[in-house]
Amino acid sequence: MIYAANLKCNYTRSGFLEYARVLDRNISDQSVMVFPPSSAFLEAKFKFTQGAQNFYPAKSGSFTGEIGSDMLDEFGITTVLIGHSERRALGEDEPFLKAKFDFAKQNGWDIIYCIGEDDITHMNGSTKEFLCDQLENIDLEYENLVVAYEPIWAIGTGKSAKAEFIAEILDFISTKTTAPLLYGGSVNIANIDDIKAIKNCDGVLIGTASWDANKFLEIIKKD
Ligand code: PGA
Repeated sequence: MIYAANLKCNYTRSGFLEYARVLDRNISDQSVMVFPPSSAFLEAKFKFTQGAQNFYPAKSGSFTGEIGSDMLDEFGITTVLIGHSERRALGEDEPFLKAKFDFAKQNGWDIIYCIGEDDITHMNGSTKEFLCDQLENIDLEYENLVVAYEPIWAIGTGKSAKAEFIAEILDFISTKTTAPLLYGGSVNIANIDDIKAIKNCDGVLIGTASWDANKFLEIIKKD
């Protein structure tokens, strides 16, 4: 199982250092990734993989406010999130996501590519068609790809999608790619066992329930 923590816009560098130490002391050989804000990247090496929530598809240049691969290289970061719904909501469209994917692939980075439908799409039963469109732009055979299915209506609500529905969607995605598949959207200590039991579920991408290192550890340690 892959356990990925999306810290979103939380943690200063000093706070993240404390978080990282707690996590590091309490994990062994589990596959754990943490995505802190870029301003909190740490140079120290830990047992978990430090990844980037965001980057601009360039080495460096005149891209005000952005972070290129030079800045990620400085911290040895080779794992990135692409396509998170919160970044899509800020205007990252399919052509831009494709540019980010292609750039990350060229660099050989590990990519967690996030897809997921909103509640209207979910309610009118067109989730699978919607996800197909979202997957159209990327190389589904890329060897360092992980796909994270995160229904927008389940993110940050405390109510994850039902296990049967997640199973059906992950099953569907597994017909398109052999990449490991994650589920994200209100994963927590109460539902981790049901989610882990899903056939094609290779891990979880956790927001809220990962922001306290000890709570994140409780979820990891159920393994
Ligand atoms: P959540 O966030 O666990 O708070 O629902 C998940 C995510 O946005 O990746």
